[in-house]
Amino acid sequence: MKKRIAIFASGSGTNAEEILKKFHHHPAIEVVVLLSNNPSAFALKRAEKFEVETSVFDKQTFKNTDQIVSLLQDKKVDLLVLAGFMWLIPKNLVNAFPNKIINIHPALLPKYGGKGMYGMHVHNAIKENKETETGITIHYVNEHYDEGQIIFQAKCNLSPSDAPEDIANKVHQLEHAHYPEIIEGLFL
Ligand code: GAR
Repeated sequence: MKKRIAIFASGSGTNAEEILKKFHHHPAIEVVVLLSNNPSAFALKRAEKFEVETSVFDKQTFKNTDQIVSLLQDKKVDLLVLAGFMWLIPKNLVNAFPNKIINIHPALLPKYGGKGMYGMHVHNAIKENKETETGITIHYVNEHYDEGQIIFQAKCNLSPSDAPEDIANKVHQLEHAHYPEIIEGLFL
């Protein structure tokens, strides 16, 4: 049986799209569901394009029930992949899938991590501090923001003229180049 991935995404889902593309017709790995906390997330449309099932949940269901754990167990999911997912993963989910949840963070952790450090907030802070480099971190997820064991990092250089949007573009390119490959590598 193929290894089964669930993607969690809150927004546009460009990373989700790269992952969906990589494992569409892959011999050993498939994406079986894309979950979102945001009913208008464009990531849901991207999943539909690949004929992958979607599921939307609210905060109360996510934080205070076992419904998402049950859904993932029923679907026999092997790996949970957070791709631009903005909520903290609750303890029941971490405990049900130990070392089976990974996240991508748009900076070189442990720098620029923690609560409130996500998306453009990260790139704005990088710009403000005049950093000369940034990058991406792929890491295991525990019940604290951005603190699980690091699996992979990649860097890119910044120039003083880079606006936060340019920094975001450079980081997205790194993410798209590496996240699907790293996911595949976890199963080899
Ligand atoms: C990505 O850059 C990802 O690293 C970041 O959100 C963006 C989502 O883009 N994630 C976080 O900040 C999580 N703390 P996408 O929707 O185009 O994939």
